Amino acid sequence: MKVQMRVNGRQVSGEVEGRTLLVTFLRDGQGLTGTHTGCDTSQCGACTVHVDGLQVKSCSMFAAEADGAEVTTIEGMANADGSLSVLQQAFQDHHGLQCGFCTPGMVMAAATLLEQTPEPTEAQVRHHLQGNICRCTGYHNIIKAVMAASGQQVTQVAAE
Ligand code: FES
Ligand code: FES
Repeated sequence: MKVQMRVNGRQVSGEVEGRTLLVTFLRDGQGLTGTHTGCDTSQCGACTVHVDGLQVKSCSMFAAEADGAEVTTIEGMANADGSLSVLQQAFQDHHGLQCGFCTPGMVMAAATLLEQTPEPTEAQVRHHLQGNICRCTGYHNIIKAVMAASGQQVTQVAAE
């Protein structure tokens, strides 16, 4: 079947099977390999994207279900001039990544949180990111990065 959607502001289309996952369509069909597949079973959050403004694990959605939707991936998160967004820059400044495998999903999830809660508490950040796993266990600096991106002091973030 044919599906079409807007991805990062660009109209795209492609032939998919009914079982084709959205993450597969984005990575293999559109070459948007910034969205990672870590588990394929909705556990790790590495595949997190935004669909019609909602945070979605793209391994848990069929491409056909996103037909007609507005999708944003990590490739669509930079500023218009290509520079890093405030949130992305905060990850870099606060060493919020090690191998980087979880980072796209972390950024997409954190962006949703900051949109809903511009100045989250540390507990709110931790709660919101609980569906995103960092196998390098770099959570402390990830929390710091998200707090910093919200314009808050990060020196008080506890190491856990
Ligand atoms: S690949 Fe989707 S949650 Fe892990
Ligand atoms: S930075 Fe390696 S999995 Fe998170």
